[in-house]
Amino acid sequence: MARLPEAAIFLVATVNTDAEEAVWDFLSGITGLIRSVASRVPDSRLRCVVGIGSDVWDRLFTGPRPARLAPFIALQGAVHTAPATDGDLLFHIRARTMDACFEMATQITNALQGAVTVVDEVHGFRLFDMRSMVGFVDGTENPAGPAAERAVTVRPDDDPDFAGGSYVLIQKYLHNMTAWNAAGTDEQERVFGRTKWDNIEMDDDTKPSNSHTALTVIEDDNGEQVQIMRDNMPFGRVGQDEFGTYFLGYSAGPEVTDEMLRNMFIGKPEGNYDRLLDFSTAVTGSRYFAPTIDFLDDPPALPAVDNETNEPETITTDVDPSMGSLRIGDLSRRRQLTTEEK
Ligand code: HEM
Repeated sequence: MARLPEAAIFLVATVNTDAEEAVWDFLSGITGLIRSVASRVPDSRLRCVVGIGSDVWDRLFTGPRPARLAPFIALQGAVHTAPATDGDLLFHIRARTMDACFEMATQITNALQGAVTVVDEVHGFRLFDMRSMVGFVDGTENPAGPAAERAVTVRPDDDPDFAGGSYVLIQKYLHNMTAWNAAGTDEQERVFGRTKWDNIEMDDDTKPSNSHTALTVIEDDNGEQVQIMRDNMPFGRVGQDEFGTYFLGYSAGPEVTDEMLRNMFIGKPEGNYDRLLDFSTAVTGSRYFAPTIDFLDDPPALPAVDNETNEPETITTDVDPSMGSLRIGDLSRRRQLTTEEK
């Protein structure tokens, strides 16, 4: 498994009215900005992925749009809800150290001042042993190497204009640690379907059907497991009794995380929802498309604005709204909006 970063900042912003040109200019220069910051902190392995939301896509770019980019639709299960919240732009900033993340976030917000409104900002940290906020090792079953690239990047035969990009789903969760701690280790292990201390997966006969790992393992029509790349981070403020997990998942198609979320919130079969949700509340949810560096360095033109209506003249929306979305990138440096020291 690839070594995950120690620190991250997740910035979610909406694009202000009439600020499209400023945002377009910024995005077309962001790879240079990342290089500037990264070269000042060369040991930080600084990376920054930019995600662009469905609603803002046509405000920023003419031409085709990612085939399956659609807004995240809230999910209402019998007991738990996955809300859909605002977000046009996602900046997933990660590094070995928080100073590099913070500097990157500062440069981004300075450059976009007046053009965007930051609607959510979370500073995540890596817990010892790669453990999540709830004490279980997180990221074990993430794909690696070529399997990771397959899992998260759009294939050329799937959507040629956006090959190499990735769909991204984010959700901010808050944990009820009092209830979680009171549940005890045996019950917690049944929640995840893995042992807590040594991180061993339960066998199929023992693993409860409402455990997190039973419901998030999904297969394609050929019975092959379909994977995503998760880059979750714990966050919190002890004085506020805030203990959270920032879930971030990259995938080659939005339908993958949609299915996982349906299993978690609606249940599989319906009603058999993810027991982790009894201790964890989703408070945000949005999805994005993270284009390649090549796309950002040379983006399609900004739509012309009709001065009378103030609306972009070109709107191309050929999207099935029932599709969900996500995708990530820790893969090909050439294709991702990431920069790291070498
Ligand atoms: C409160 C939020 C969450 C926490 C604390 C959490 C934590 C974990 C942990 C500890 C594991 C087991 C070890 C591992 O393979 O990483 C795991 C597995 C996994 N989670 Fe989550 N997760 C959360 C939300 C989500 C969401 C929202 C999704 C999908 C939309 C998801 C998808 C997965 C997948 C695909 C696996 C691997 C299953 C396997 O192959 O065994 N998780 N998660």
